[in-house]
Amino acid sequence: MYYPEEIVEEVRQKSDIVDVISGYVRLQKKGSTYFGLCPFHNEKTPSFSVSPNKQMYYCFGCGAGGNVFSFVMNYENFTFREAVKHLADRAGVALPEINDSKEYKEKETHRQKLLAVNKEAAKFFYYQLRSPQGQVGLNYLKKRELTDETMQKFGLGYSLKTSDSLVKYLRSKGYDDSLIKEVGLANFNEKMGLHDIFWNRVMFPIQDINHRVIGFGGRVMGDGNPKYLNSPETPIFDKRRNLFGLNFARTARTGNFILCEGYMDVISMHQAGFTQAVASLGTAFTAEQAVLLKRYTDSVLLAYDSDGAGTKAALRAIGMLREAGLSGKVINMKPCKDPDEFIKTYGADAFKERMDNAENSFFFEIRILEGQYNLNDPEDKTRFHRSIAEKLCEFEEEVERENYIQAVADKYHIGFDNLRKLVVSYASKTGLAKPVERPKSSVQAKEKEAAGARQQRLLITWLSEEPELFPTVKKYVTPEDFTDPIYKVIAEKAYESFEKTGGFNPASIVSFFEDEEEQRRVAAAFNTGLAQNPETLQDRQKAFNEIIVGIKEESNLKASADMGSDMTALQRFMDGKKALEELKRHPIVLQQ
Ligand code: UTP
Ligand code: MN
Repeated sequence: MYYPEEIVEEVRQKSDIVDVISGYVRLQKKGSTYFGLCPFHNEKTPSFSVSPNKQMYYCFGCGAGGNVFSFVMNYENFTFREAVKHLADRAGVALPEINDSKEYKEKETHRQKLLAVNKEAAKFFYYQLRSPQGQVGLNYLKKRELTDETMQKFGLGYSLKTSDSLVKYLRSKGYDDSLIKEVGLANFNEKMGLHDIFWNRVMFPIQDINHRVIGFGGRVMGDGNPKYLNSPETPIFDKRRNLFGLNFARTARTGNFILCEGYMDVISMHQAGFTQAVASLGTAFTAEQAVLLKRYTDSVLLAYDSDGAGTKAALRAIGMLREAGLSGKVINMKPCKDPDEFIKTYGADAFKERMDNAENSFFFEIRILEGQYNLNDPEDKTRFHRSIAEKLCEFEEEVERENYIQAVADKYHIGFDNLRKLVVSYASKTGLAKPVERPKSSVQAKEKEAAGARQQRLLITWLSEEPELFPTVKKYVTPEDFTDPIYKVIAEKAYESFEKTGGFNPASIVSFFEDEEEQRRVAAAFNTGLAQNPETLQDRQKAFNEIIVGIKEESNLKASADMGSDMTALQRFMDGKKALEELKRHPIVLQQ
């Protein structure tokens, strides 16, 4: 934690969760809890709950959850530190200076300088576009039917014909040559000295999610090579991890994203009202970008060019999306070349219709595959069916695979049983549904729960709802008994607080975890319900004893496994055995 615990806790206490979330989501009170439509997934009936007592939120639909910090982290895409800062400002709490390492501070200062150079350059280009020398650029963009408003929104600009006007300008603003070169705006050679990289092009600033200019794309006006010149990779410009337009698209909240190939496509889509459009940055779509999108949506519509290259790129992107756990659909752009042309020719309504009719990415893949075979030739047809079977093996989950077998069989008039047999035979040769390698991300790194972890979660929830049970619980269960590392930390914090104050505060415990995925798991630990709500006192008692015994048994299994390497394990094991025997003889009795 960068800020002292007490300050973080003060900020949290002064940021009532219902208050803060109401600024983003319409909430309605039902009993002691508020409900609303979950902002983290697309839904029609509210499963997003906010508890003023626990000062936590939890979505029963998608599992998003946490305290007030987690919420702004998730919603605004802040780091923990940024979330604390944001809420502190809101609540009027003064934060102390952070004690970062010298190295980190230097790196950060350098990054800030590079960003400042880019910002200054973007201003220069922007100004030039609107000056007499920039008239050519303005005419070009107008010819491409961009409105002044759109040009302003995207901060479009123009780089002059002279070879060093930007360098001169940046020097006059006090920036060193080395900085101007490092950020990719200038090159050095003997003949010309330090000179501009972008000449006589319309300029597209590339912004990160916080609207900071991290690089540029510059387009020639008319034909010329290269059509686009892009800033090189720099300490602030990571092409694999940013997307053009994401700074606007992330707040569109339309339930989907539209992935395009080009800058112009994105701009023209936004102009037409599709503000959820993004594009990769002069490079092919990457696995990292897919993971990035997964933070905002589950559904991506591909709006790639309709030519051969576009189709190939779409096929690649589909793979990336699938690996990140995103569902992909392909928008048919024909007879147009790309979304920009489509919007200009047929308008936004027609495009919306194409979106609604977008093709499931698997069928798209099969349809493209089909084109490679001559279906009038029986042998070729068999080969086509085999390759379909091969592709069907990519679905790991049985239900999903069976559904697709059914759907493909119907669509291509193959007997369901025949196709299924083909799949099985292909799978048995290669090992069915080989798990796909997925890029590591916080989304994917979701640790499997340790054995018995569900009971540990149940106990945590139970204690948070009936803290008066703590004295009884602690007779049998110690934090050491929580085998899941996250639940163990929760238990440690909770026990500590019980001993000190006689109660504990779930929301303040969430703040000990800075990783979003961990916060989600902590929130889930406070929202675990029994499969069946016990109706009678007897049922409650039975359920409660089962949880305690289950936790002790699991803990004892672990203790006996640890005995070889851990000196304390034997003692833990003996204590555990004693507690279990005691529980068997005298089950815990709950008060009405
Ligand atoms: P396109 O050639 O489809 O360009 O390249 P576009 O964005 O549709 O632009 P217009 O409508 O022809 O003006 C798609 C993307 O590929 C990258 C750029 O990111 C571009 O937006 N690209 C293309 C380059 O980086 N360099 C190039 O020379 C060409
Ligand atoms: Mn294009």
